[in-house]
Amino acid sequence: PVIFVLNGPNLNLLGTREPHIYGHQTLADIEAMLKAQAATLGLAIDMRQSNHEGTLVDWMHEAHFAGAKAILINAGAYTHTSIALHDAAKSISVPVFEVHLSDPKSRETFRHISYIGMAAKACFAGHGADSYRLALDAAAKL
Ligand code: DQA
Repeated sequence: PVIFVLNGPNLNLLGTREPHIYGHQTLADIEAMLKAQAATLGLAIDMRQSNHEGTLVDWMHEAHFAGAKAILINAGAYTHTSIALHDAAKSISVPVFEVHLSDPKSRETFRHISYIGMAAKACFAGHGADSYRLALDAAAKL
C-alpha cells in the first residue's frame, strides 16, 4: 500500500526557511525519515512538493485513482486559503490527514482557519517533523 505525502508552497525551502519556526530538517530529511518508518509498517511513501495549488489538486486525484491508502498533506499557506484543496479532499475516497510543522492555531490569526482541515480525518500540528511521523502512524492504523 502506498501513502502519498504532499507538500505545498515554500516547503522546498525547509531547513533554511525560518528555522526558529520550522526547524533545521530539510524536506529530504523528512522524506528519508518517513521512508524508514513506512518500511517498518509495510507501507510505501510517495512524497512530493509543489508551489502550485492546481498541481496539489492533481496529485490528490492521482492518489485516488492509484488507490492510495491515505494522503498526508502539508498544504503550507494554501491550508488557509484553498477551497479547491478542501473540495479535492471531499471529492476523493482516500482519507486525508492534515500535517503542519508549526501549530498554526497558536500563530497569526490569518492562520487560524484551515479549509483542508475541515475535510481531513485528523490534524497533526506543532510537533515539527514529528507531525509527519504521527500522521503516518495514524494512517497506517486505518
Ligand atoms: C505550515 C503552516 C502554514 O501556516 C504556513 O503557511 C506554512 C507551513 C507548517 O507546516 O507549519 O507554509 O503548513
